[in-house]
Amino acid sequence: VTARLTIDPHFTVGFVNRRLFGSFVEHLGRCVYDGLYEPGHPTADAEGFRQDVIELVKELGVSTIRYPGGNFVSGFRWEDSVGPVAERPRRLDLAWHSTETNEVGLHEFSSWLDKVGSDLMLAVNLGTRGTLEALDLLEYSNLPGGTTLSQQRIDNGRTDAFGVQMWCLGNEMDGPWQLGHRSAEDYGKLASQTAKAMRQLDPSVELVACGSSSAHMPTFGEWERVVLTHTYDDVDYISCHAYYQEKNGDLGSFLASAVDMDHFIDSVVATADHVKAVLGSSKTVNISFDEWNVWYLDRYENVDKIEGLDNWPVAPRLLEDAYSVADAVVFGNLLISLLRHADRVTSASLAQLVNVIAPIMTEPGGPAWKQTTYFPFALTSRLATGEALDVKLEADSYDTEVYGTVPLVDAVATHDAAAGTTSVFLVNRSQSDPATVSIDTAALGAVTVREAQTLADADTSAKNVLDDPERVGLSATEGIEVRDGGLTLTLPPVSWTAISLG
Ligand code: AHR
Repeated sequence: VTARLTIDPHFTVGFVNRRLFGSFVEHLGRCVYDGLYEPGHPTADAEGFRQDVIELVKELGVSTIRYPGGNFVSGFRWEDSVGPVAERPRRLDLAWHSTETNEVGLHEFSSWLDKVGSDLMLAVNLGTRGTLEALDLLEYSNLPGGTTLSQQRIDNGRTDAFGVQMWCLGNEMDGPWQLGHRSAEDYGKLASQTAKAMRQLDPSVELVACGSSSAHMPTFGEWERVVLTHTYDDVDYISCHAYYQEKNGDLGSFLASAVDMDHFIDSVVATADHVKAVLGSSKTVNISFDEWNVWYLDRYENVDKIEGLDNWPVAPRLLEDAYSVADAVVFGNLLISLLRHADRVTSASLAQLVNVIAPIMTEPGGPAWKQTTYFPFALTSRLATGEALDVKLEADSYDTEVYGTVPLVDAVATHDAAAGTTSVFLVNRSQSDPATVSIDTAALGAVTVREAQTLADADTSAKNVLDDPERVGLSATEGIEVRDGGLTLTLPPVSWTAISLG
């Protein structure tokens, strides 16, 4: 396999917003309880948070964290999660057929965010609740004081307002599985009214309208058009959600999942800009890709799902996918797709963070460890700074069952003029052959390789699991040859690589 890549710092796509490296914590399975919060754990701090998890989240480099759902939020009463812990109600979580103890709520989660150095992004319940409850939560969170709700927050131990900037107007309202699922028309009206009311209270908030739960929803495209027609003046973002999995042993198509993500983003941008044109608006609505990952959804549907009127466990093991090397290569490629669209995707959340389709796993009373997907996220978050570049890539191709003929190599670059660094992120999708990539860096002047790391393994199904938590890791990229005006490197089959040039 061969590929040629040309990098020119003049050809910028857009600024890489730190919010692209966001994540998502839902009250689902063991994400919160027995995940980031486990009071009896040997590393737990005074508030019951696992410090080994805090360290891993910090190293992962996560900006904004979306909370508390997800599907969970559509049945959630936020008032349950504040005030004295002993008085908080136990509730049914219909989305995941579990019991929510409300031991961790807004105040506790905000305190945890301070420890990991991330910002809060809140979702309001527009499934089973409406504008008034959203306003109450906003008042409780962002009003400095002087009203009953803001005083309640102060009495509950938080003098300063939480100052939450990013707000999701519900979750996946296009999905028939969603509590309170609505038509685009009905949701669009509700989202518009709620957004207007929220801005009346706090004009500084940034608002996300629900887009489609995937590009394969039957309403995809039309949903965005109708919702944005109602909300265009009221919101800043439209959301995208996408999950990928290898189906029927078709690794070739799975490795090309980023082709689907590219198409998804391009389609939503086109739809948003269509509405902009029709409305004669000068404003641009961008994308918050606030759920993305590899997720073996079939396993949840067929094996893990909980049922029974007398069966509502607390923090059950749900969606605990163990990720392979191939999964991490696809995952790294999804990050490449997000970066390639940095002009319009200005916020994103990896779904999720701990135990639930997560880069970080924990065992109660035991260790916390990094999944294979941890590595591409941490490295991309650390190295992708400055501007995303429009690279020129010529690569050999292969045929896939699902996406037709696609390139065997995919890549993106970022350039940080202030730091004097350029980073390149690449994948080789070939299952059999290494890829020799020649990178033209003449427009950058003389360069040196500051760092180059690859994720690959002879066994593409290798995973990091409890019994062998460090089976897969990064290794120094081999055989990089720097010459005048460029460099050449070899990417192993099914691999992800990041290079930092200075
Ligand atoms: O991330 C898991 C679930 O996926 C979320 O709760 C939901 O929004 C999506 O369907």
